[in-house]
Amino acid sequence: MSALLLLGATSDIGGEVALRLCRGRDVVLAGRDRRGARGIETQLAEAGALSVRFVNFEATDLDSHRALISEVGEITTAIVAFGILGDQQLAERDEKEAARIATVDYLAQVSVLTVLADVMKRGEIFAFSSIAGWRARRANYVYGSTKAGLDAFCQGLADRLHGTDLRLITARPGFVIGSMTEGMSPAPMSVTPAEVADAVVAAAGTKGSRTVWIPRRLALLAAIMRFVPRPIWRHMPR
Ligand SMILES: NC(=O)c1ccc[n+]([C@@H]2O[C@H](COP(=O)([O-])OP(=O)(O)OC[C@H]3O[C@@H](n4cnc5c(N)ncnc54)[C@H](OP(=O)(O)O)[C@@H]3O)[C@@H](O)[C@H]2O)c1
Repeated sequence: MSALLLLGATSDIGGEVALRLCRGRDVVLAGRDRRGARGIETQLAEAGALSVRFVNFEATDLDSHRALISEVGEITTAIVAFGILGDQQLAERDEKEAARIATVDYLAQVSVLTVLADVMKRGEIFAFSSIAGWRARRANYVYGSTKAGLDAFCQGLADRLHGTDLRLITARPGFVIGSMTEGMSPAPMSVTPAEVADAVVAAAGTKGSRTVWIPRRLALLAAIMRFVPRPIWRHMPR
């Protein structure tokens, strides 16, 4: 039986995607927080997963990625949902924080996606870019730059997978109300993790790789964003 692998076991968005696809599947939750993953484990079992197991996964340990993914066995759905917002203000003066954000949100994503695309023969991989990567903002340029890099990587990977039985669904959500944005006031066009999951799962139901703005009308805002003069853009909030 082929497995569904969720990298980022306690991710709000990843959990919602997994819940929609887990029926009759063996699910592997890869994460750092064994206890924190108990809630999603129960929900997955209730949603019809055949089995759910937890494996330890530290994204910054790049050398561990291939062994972890190989150990899962045949994977036909991979949800790459780990990530951090990081502390932008700290990252502006502390290179360790800047490098931590870059490692989790870019390097580790590239590493994991490369292994998955190498070992998976068919099915779908979900990756999570962001509107933050479309045009970097002064207010969160460290995180934004990782998403810009990841998005570019995903566009290339999608082209590489064209014509194969494996496809990449790249999500470009705006502000998602959840753990990552806790305490922040929701931006215009905010969505929930459930809405993100609905959109990417729908995209996976069609043929080939897809890139999806969530909500869809965010694409229009993104087009306009490109033309905002820098002296104004500089003052855009997070
Ligand atoms: N939330 C938003 O507004 C938003 C918008 C656009 C795009 N996205 C992207 O969507 C993806 C999922 O976001 P989300 O909202 O579901 O985030 P979330 O609920 O905060 O979950 C993030 C997950 O990443 C894991 N993680 C963080 N650092 C890790 C590390 N070093 N090693 C292993 N796991 C690590 C966390 O595990 P622990 O529990 O162990 O910390 C958690 O499971 C991310 O790539 C995010 O950048 C989010």
